[in-house]
Amino acid sequence: MRFERPSMKWKDEHEAYMKEWDEDGMTPSSFHLKDGIPYEVYLEELRKREAGQGKWLPCTNYFLVDETDRVVGMIDIRHDLNEYLHQFGGHIGYGVRPSERRKGYATRMLAEALKVTDKLGIKSVLVTCNDDNIGSAKTILHNGGEEDVSLTEEDGTVVRRFWIERKKQVSMNCI
Ligand SMILES: CC(C)(COP(=O)(O)OP(=O)(O)OC[C@H]1O[C@@H](n2cnc3c(N)ncnc32)[C@H](O)[C@@H]1OP(=O)(O)O)[C@@H](O)C(=O)NCCC(=O)NCCS
Repeated sequence: MRFERPSMKWKDEHEAYMKEWDEDGMTPSSFHLKDGIPYEVYLEELRKREAGQGKWLPCTNYFLVDETDRVVGMIDIRHDLNEYLHQFGGHIGYGVRPSERRKGYATRMLAEALKVTDKLGIKSVLVTCNDDNIGSAKTILHNGGEEDVSLTEEDGTVVRRFWIERKKQVSMNCI
């Protein structure tokens, strides 16, 4: 398994993944492909978003790719938190290809993403999920998430919020 940055090389895989996606809206939204928009334009827009232009904070996006070069997951790592992300979005958003779920990919992908947040110097990583998303909550707990208070979005969605303390984990690893 490895992380790959979005590029023209992954166009066909990304489109196939998008076709398989059965939920409303793509998670993370940074990987949503709009009908009729050329992939080059999508990549340009993503670069602007990653650079923190407009309403976005700087972020880095990766595909999780398996040994056969199949894209099995996608992840968006935000480098900082604004008020919305602090309340609801968190530092990291991820999704797994519907046909590849319940194989441990989300758990492994979040573990890999925490190495990226370590490099960014983020000591307390906030990861959130809707209160009915058992798979995501378990993914976060498997990666050391400690639950904080839940908050409710304007539309009534209850969001569970977990902090993953990296300082503590690094010092534990050193013992
Ligand atoms: C949530 C999601 C990322 C989980 O991905 P995944 O690769 O299936 O997760 P894992 O295989 O690592 O599973 C982690 C744990 O959750 C459990 N799990 C996964 N999906 C589950 C489900 N639908 N119901 C109950 N448990 C579930 C797994 O059994 C595993 O538990 P275990 O270790 O005790 O066996 C995936 O379902 C998804 O992409 N959903 C849509 C997008 C989304 O919700 N993203 C997260 C936003 S917060």
